[in-house]
Formats: sequence, C-alpha cells, structure tokens
Amino acid sequence: MAHRRVRATPPSLLRRLSVLLLALFSSLLFLAFLHICASVLRRANDLGRRCLANPSVFSGISTSAMTRTLKIAMVSLSQEEISDGVGRPTRRRSFRGVMAAVGGNKRAYAARMGYDFIDAHDLVDPARPPSWSKIVAVRSQLSSHDWVFWNDADTVVTNPDIALENVLVAVIGQADFETSPDLVVTEDVNGINAGVFFVRRSKWSEKFLETWWNLTSFIQFGSTKSGDNDALKYLLKNLSSHELRSHVRISPMQCLFNSYLWYPSWKSVHQLIFSSGAVWRVGLSNLSSIQMILGSITR
Ligand SMILES: *[C@@H]1O[C@H](CO)[C@@H](O)[C@H](O)[C@H]1NC(C)=O
Ligand SMILES: *[C@@H]1O[C@H](CO)[C@@H](O)[C@H](O)[C@H]1NC(C)=O
Ligand SMILES: *[C@@H]1O[C@H](CO)[C@@H](O)[C@H](O)[C@H]1NC(C)=O
Repeated sequence: MAHRRVRATPPSLLRRLSVLLLALFSSLLFLAFLHICASVLRRANDLGRRCLANPSVFSGISTSAMTRTLKIAMVSLSQEEISDGVGRPTRRRSFRGVMAAVGGNKRAYAARMGYDFIDAHDLVDPARPPSWSKIVAVRSQLSSHDWVFWNDADTVVTNPDIALENVLVAVIGQADFETSPDLVVTEDVNGINAGVFFVRRSKWSEKFLETWWNLTSFIQFGSTKSGDNDALKYLLKNLSSHELRSHVRISPMQCLFNSYLWYPSWKSVHQLIFSSGAVWRVGLSNLSSIQMILGSITR
C-alpha cells in the first residue's frame, strides 16, 4: 500500500499543480480581459460615440430655447422599510439610506437649474410594492408643472452642467412644448426602462398614467420585480404605431440619460458579447455611482 502510494504521488501532484496554474492563468487572463473592456467602455465618447446627434446643443445651460421658460419637477421617492406594508414576505432589495445618500445630489442639481425637487415618499401606496408609487408621485405634480422628470432613488446626476431641457431637445429634436411628445424614455437590453423618464403635462399623459396605475394584474410581491416596469412595457406595446409615434419618444442613445455604470460581472460580460450594440448605447462614465443619469455626453 505505502509503496504504491509513493509511486502514485508525484504525477498526481504534478497534475494538480498544472491544473492550479492553468486555473490561475485563465483567471488572470479573464481579469485582464475585463479590465480592457472596462477601460475601452469608459472612453467610449473619446472613441467616437455620440450620445446625441447634435452635441452643440450642450454647449451651455442657457443656450437652450426651453431653458427657464418651462416649469420642471424632479420627482423621486424611496421606501426605506423592507416590509411591503401588508405583511407579505419580500426578498426585495433594501433601499435603506439610499435617499439620504443621493438626496443632496438631486436637490443641488434641481436648485442650480431652477427645478422643483419633490421627495414623494409620503405618497407611497402600502398596498403595492413601493416602485408602483412613482405613478402616483408623477401624477401629483403633473398639473402644476410642464414636465415631470421621474428619477428612481438609486440614481444620481453625474453631469450637473447639462440641463434637463437640453436632454429633452436632444431626444425630441425641437424645443416647442405644445408639439412635444408626452413620454420620453430610454431602453436597455431588457427593453423600456421605467427608472428615469419624462412626462409632459397633457390630457394624454394623465390618461396614460391612470391606465398604467390600473394594470393591477402586473403587481408582483415577494420578488426583486415589482411589475410596474413590465406594465409600462405592456402599455407601450399595446399602443398603435400612430399613437406611439406621436406621444412617445425613446432616446436612441441611453448614454444621454438613465445610463448605467458598467462593472464586470458574468451578466455584463454576457451582454457585452451578445448585445454589444446595446452596451455601447447604454454608456458609462468613470464616476462610481449606483446608477447614472445625465451621463457623459461629450467630453
Ligand atoms: C382606472 O380605474 C378606476 C377605478 O377602477 C376607474 O374609475 C378609471 O376609469 C380607470 N381609468 C382608466 C384610464 O382606465
Ligand atoms: C390595448 O389596446 C386596445 C386597442 O387599442 C385598447 O382597447 C385597450 O384599452 C388597450 N389596453 C390597455 C391596457 O391600454
Ligand atoms: C473622470 O472624468 C472626469 C471628467 O471627465 C475627469 O476629470 C476625471 O479625471 C476622471 N477620473 C478618472 C479617475 O479617470
């Protein structure tokens, strides 16, 4: 027995060592690959990416025709409690401390630009996952503002030099309020994203928000999804192409607003390989933030 083991040990040790070295080497190679991807994506704008057709719109805050003539509300909310309010089990991510961390950033930007900032946490409907209450919050400000800019609590303004009016002009292509579309959104690899969007004061918007709120069959408890984003996707899919064209605008480049921070993970690498166009459009900057709005436009 002992004799046999002595003879068997060296090759198996060698084998184990080479497997270990191979694993180490491929991990290092993979890390290097991630590092290269991340640095290429961080310099996306230097590499020719344009987040909008006409960068000159962004040459300054006061250059936009819309600036200072429109009343804009920045609305956000965060439900700090982990309980969903009706005692159902929940695995939802906790938002504890999120508004305390990002509220200053949002308020400072709104104050600088002359927008109203509304933290609508007191409007949360406890009968639904808190994310649904963004609809209530937006509706509450629509009659008193021209545009309501919804931004999820886990977003920050990463470029405070860019006015929301400029973002709107960039997406819509003109500055006339009366003929503007009513809903301005972005799209990522999963489709329309309800995290950050604009709603214009209009009859159409009021009805749209009410219909969205009424899609109760989409409400989901006890998962990381709450259903409001799926309901929005359904609503937009259900619109006729004519209605979609005249009332909704989807930003062709997500790096204009509601862009994400690219960080290496299996999921993001998978998306990079299989949806590289979308990753390019989503955009990123070198700022470490939770999720980003008003990301790098031109540099
Ligand atoms: C939404 O539901 C309420 C209550 O059921 C109803 O009164 C209202 O007409 C509905 N609105 C729309 C736009 O479907
Ligand atoms: C979906 O579209 C149909 C046809 O236009 C319409 O009758 C229906 O009300 C829409 N449903 C929702 C939830 O908007
Ligand atoms: C990130 O970008 C900003 C603005 O473009 C630049 O001033 C800063 O040096 C960059 N930081 C790093 C770590 O690359």
